[in-house]
Amino acid sequence: MQELILDVQRLRKYFKGPGGFLEGRVSFLKALDGVSFQVFPGETFGFVGESGCGKSTLGKTILGIYRATGGHVIFKGRDITRLPRKQAIRIRSEIQYVYQDPGSSLDPHWKIRKILAEPLHIHTHMKRVAIEERTREMLKAVGLGEEHLGLYPHEFSGGQQRRLGLARILCLNPSLVILDEPTSGLDVSVQATILKLFLDLKSRFNLTYLFISHNLSVVRMMCQRLAVMYAGKIMEMGDTPAVFERPIHPYTQFLLSAIPTIEKKTGSSEEIPLSGEPPNPEDFPPGCRFHPRCPHAMDRCKKEAPEFRLQGKDRWSACHLDLK
Ligand SMILES: Nc1ncnc2c1ncn2[C@@H]1O[C@H](COP(=O)(O)OP(=O)(O)OP(=O)(O)O)[C@@H](O)[C@H]1O
Ligand SMILES: [Mg+2]
Repeated sequence: MQELILDVQRLRKYFKGPGGFLEGRVSFLKALDGVSFQVFPGETFGFVGESGCGKSTLGKTILGIYRATGGHVIFKGRDITRLPRKQAIRIRSEIQYVYQDPGSSLDPHWKIRKILAEPLHIHTHMKRVAIEERTREMLKAVGLGEEHLGLYPHEFSGGQQRRLGLARILCLNPSLVILDEPTSGLDVSVQATILKLFLDLKSRFNLTYLFISHNLSVVRMMCQRLAVMYAGKIMEMGDTPAVFERPIHPYTQFLLSAIPTIEKKTGSSEEIPLSGEPPNPEDFPPGCRFHPRCPHAMDRCKKEAPEFRLQGKDRWSACHLDLK
């Protein structure tokens, strides 16, 4: 059996809810509520789902920016969920997170030279000359040049800011990179060049990606496997081509039916109607969290939360329907 790079087990992250007290108890906002998946070295694993379902929280909890409420993150065979601070900092150079908003992760008062060098000063004992050399090399790897070193972040376009964000994390020689909405806000042609850059960097630096995105067409193109999240849980997980070809969870069926660009088989081109909003994460409905919006909901779905289980070859799903 191939060794895993990442093994996430029943991961939970609860925030203290802004709603204050519910029924006399402090309410919790369950941003992640028992998420389990495994990632193999070299693959690109996608996460999709509506806004607020917990994708960014997942990335940040894996990295340790958020302290997990429960569950485990095993990275290269080692439990890194609750490491002491010093060890956590060391591990963090191996796992890198590329923020959803690239502009905000680059200090506007610093020139690019300093922005790129800073993580190396923090995480390594490299000398100044070696740091300069490394930053130039990584800038080149992402398609920018030395002439950019003296500029400030606001002098770059959105696409260039993504490149800078990548150069900054690559300096630390990571093995797992969490890309959070890496193409949002970019026009289609820039998106295409950035996606190609991800592929080039992945093979050049032996990277593994967790790829978080709203854009299902991009996920389809980039990811070997994917997980569909809803209200802090994974609803369906499997090989990307198989999930797109035959989604089994009603929520995945809805998400895929809503993509206009994907060619649909004859007879299945209708958009599946889905009413209502995602549930309040401070007060999830009982049973299956998706049941109030599910066109197939049965009595059982209102009472009993479905188990996340294997439903065929490499396909996991959390649904009471007979999905075979
Ligand atoms: N630091 C925080 N403190 C309190 N609540 C938070 C915090 N971060 C996220 N949340 C809440 O957790 C839930 C999940 O948020 P998250 O940002 O992970 O969603 P997302 O799937 O990344 O959404 P989007 O697609 O809009 O980026 C939301 O209800 C959000 O309000
Ligand atoms: Mg997010």
